[in-house]
Amino acid sequence: MDKKLDWTHPEPLWKKEANLPSFESLTEAQDTEVAVVGGGITGITTAYLLAREGKKVTLIEAGRLLNGTSGHTTAKVTAQHGLIYHELIDHFGEDHAALYYQAQSDAITSIENSIQELDIYCEWSRQDACLYATTKEGAKKLEREREAYERLNISQPIEAHLPFDAEVSSTLAMTNQAQFHPLLYLSTLIEEFLNSGGKIYENTTAVKVHENNRIEIETDQDSVLSCDQLVICTHFPFHDGKGFYFSRMYAERSYVIAIEPEKEWKGGMFLSIDDPKRSIRSAEYDGKKLLLIGGESHRTGEGGENLFHYNALEEFASRTFGIKSKLFQWSAQDLTTLDKIPYIGPIRKDNKRVFLATGFRKWGMTNSRVAGELLTDYVMGRDSLYKSIFTPSRFKADPSMKEFLKNNSNVAAHLMEGKLELVGTRPEALLKGEGAVIQWKGERAGAYKDENGELHVLDTTCTHMGCEVEWNSGEHSWDCPCHGSRFSFDGEVLEGPAKKPLKKIAYSDTDEVRYIPYDDEDLSEQSDQP
Ligand code: FES
Repeated sequence: MDKKLDWTHPEPLWKKEANLPSFESLTEAQDTEVAVVGGGITGITTAYLLAREGKKVTLIEAGRLLNGTSGHTTAKVTAQHGLIYHELIDHFGEDHAALYYQAQSDAITSIENSIQELDIYCEWSRQDACLYATTKEGAKKLEREREAYERLNISQPIEAHLPFDAEVSSTLAMTNQAQFHPLLYLSTLIEEFLNSGGKIYENTTAVKVHENNRIEIETDQDSVLSCDQLVICTHFPFHDGKGFYFSRMYAERSYVIAIEPEKEWKGGMFLSIDDPKRSIRSAEYDGKKLLLIGGESHRTGEGGENLFHYNALEEFASRTFGIKSKLFQWSAQDLTTLDKIPYIGPIRKDNKRVFLATGFRKWGMTNSRVAGELLTDYVMGRDSLYKSIFTPSRFKADPSMKEFLKNNSNVAAHLMEGKLELVGTRPEALLKGEGAVIQWKGERAGAYKDENGELHVLDTTCTHMGCEVEWNSGEHSWDCPCHGSRFSFDGEVLEGPAKKPLKKIAYSDTDEVRYIPYDDEDLSEQSDQP
């Protein structure tokens, strides 16, 4: 059951300060050279870079620009992506790991160059990034990572100290990384894109792709966008193109709070590597110095009560920094690929016209720039040093096969588990603003009572591949643990891969369960499976 969260703003800090323009839907047929689908940081960066190359570009977004993961980030711009380099050397070799580091470092430089060139005020600030361990086990892992840094010539300070009290057994810093305000930065890129002749349409969902002589994208506005090349920058690829992306990634949710601390902050960006993980950086708001504290990751649909996660972050913040005021709280969803390296490139090895970028783990600030530049190279027919490491058609037996089996056995378990689960809550027991899985006439269903007391009852079977969705009390959404689809309280799709809403159940306390049918098609069609 839900409990109210007592934060001043239950939304990301970034949204409070950025003034983003709004755009019409695409309601007529249109023709362009390159279509970009997805208005997050990757779509906007790619559209901006392509327009700079002289390409005629149209961007469409299913909702509002920057309303997804990009608007919910902690916005650390760093090549220090947790514990990754030792693992990359182990699985792919030193050259591969060095290229990954170089790609991320180049991305930081490119973002900084854009900020200087366009004279963007976005609180850009160079900071060291630092991992810290609080256990002996963690210290051992950090030592292995330190060896990887030495092999890859990653610069680190002689010593790194934490500017706060914590049980710390070891630290590992990476110098000269950065943090910024992502939406202030992106609002200028949007402006520049429009000035170069680019077009943007919001509230326009791409529904289907036809690869004929030209590529035709059908939208939910009964319009068709025709193009020579298509770049998919939706968080989860809306079009699978027989790439089996739904079986090659998993979704995780994590949480962020923004507080005004009692203790003075001395700078830096920090990430603990032992569980429970904590991410820390500073930010500014309304003349105040804030700290953003993130963590509490869990697989989507498996995290239980949201309040628990926010409380855990608040308890850590209170103990470590003291809390003068509690300002913002939000959560985000991230996708991770089987080998932890994003998929950026052709949707299928032999496809030269449809490209995508996805699976940035939690490191979307640098990876979105890597993606923007790499996708631009693909569209322009140029070569790049980085194509081979990010290409989605890579498939190395280790660790991909192991992770593939783990990921898909998890999906299979959810398929079974949800069907067998019996729950006792009755819809009448819900308070206004609460949602829960209920048992209704012996069936598993989902119910939400809105602020007017109206009940919204749904079939909890995910319309992607049939797993059972769970209630997310923080976001008031129904989340699927299998591939991360999310639905609103009344069943509309918020995030794919699902494309169809959850079935509504006509609720009555006397009738048998009755389903309200929608124009049904075969479920397999909407997941684009071969
Ligand atoms: Fe794939 Fe729900 S997202 S079954």
